[in-house]
Amino acid sequence: MQPKSNIVHLPVYQPGKPVEDVKRELGLTEIIKLASNENPFGCSEHAKAAIMEELVNLNIYPDGASIELTAALAAKLGVETNQLIFGTGSSEIILMVARAFLVPGDETIMADETFPQYKHNAEIENARVIEVPLKDGKHDLPAMLAKVNNRTKIIWICNPNNPTGTIVSIPELTEFLKQVPSHVLVVLDEAYGEYIEDPDYPDGVQLLREFRNLIVLRTFSKIYGLASLRIGYGIGHADVIRFTNQVREPFNTTRAAQAAAKAAIADHAFITYCREQNKQGIAYLSGQFDRLGLTYFPAYGNFMMFDAKRPSPEVFDALLRRGIISRSRWTYYPNHIRITVGTQQQNEQFIAALEQVLQEETVQG
Ligand SMILES: Cc1ncc(COP(=O)(O)O)c(C=O)c1O
Repeated sequence: MQPKSNIVHLPVYQPGKPVEDVKRELGLTEIIKLASNENPFGCSEHAKAAIMEELVNLNIYPDGASIELTAALAAKLGVETNQLIFGTGSSEIILMVARAFLVPGDETIMADETFPQYKHNAEIENARVIEVPLKDGKHDLPAMLAKVNNRTKIIWICNPNNPTGTIVSIPELTEFLKQVPSHVLVVLDEAYGEYIEDPDYPDGVQLLREFRNLIVLRTFSKIYGLASLRIGYGIGHADVIRFTNQVREPFNTTRAAQAAAKAAIADHAFITYCREQNKQGIAYLSGQFDRLGLTYFPAYGNFMMFDAKRPSPEVFDALLRRGIISRSRWTYYPNHIRITVGTQQQNEQFIAALEQVLQEETVQG
């Protein structure tokens, strides 16, 4: 057997330990998972009801073209139906874009610390990955632009960036897009976009009118709270969407996911509630980090990245022993921890645990 040589070195994705395993191993009764930027407030009750209605159709294949959901979302976003594509999470859109656009030897540009699936999928296609250092945790758009040449096929911009949480602003992104040659596709990942009300934050859909070489990615996994259903989407020029659709599996998204997503976009009250709670959570956590003398990147999504001032795997383990699952081991931020903004109670428990960890180490040190 001979697999593609370029995949041999790729790591198999290691999911976090199941909460039940962590409880048993550490003898804890309660675990708070703040590791995957899920929605701590669940999902819309309307989405749950829509799934229940689908139970009678479990034996029927889904609508491969997601016609009803496409129509509802196109109306909400003010785009044409041929400008939308759905995937099993926006992760699958990333996979499909890489599959549709990259051939071996192509170059693709991304930040050095960003959502890992861009690099992973580019490597599967045997493209050459050009990583550009973040500047103060932010995409360095001029430096990324300077890497463009005639082999460049895709530039990936994660806005807000996972894991740092920073954003690029409307003027920064617009200036950048104006200078990107038309043969280069820009992927703008807005997985956390619905959380943001800052007037400086660009709405990728508005930019599509001016820039045809752009695809915007969004997901139902974050503010909509439907991560387990695996559904996300891409919005782009009809040509970009058509090429991406050509590599899509016929029945990729499920009936339950399509129905829940359609119900979820109509439940404005749930989204407003989650956005407000998240804003309060960021304010609370920022205040607590300030009190503890810890610096952090400005947060826009439903997660925050702070400098623990000691090796992050140690802090991760110490938090885990206190029942908090966080995220550590960043290549370029060895002392930083990323945590999801939880409910107020979860945030308070996290801060109490963090304070103990920091004090314990001070005493020992
Ligand atoms: C920036 C970013 N993009 C995309 C995704 C993928 O989400 P999903 O595949 O659940 O839509 C995530 C998930 O954490 C993310 O953080």
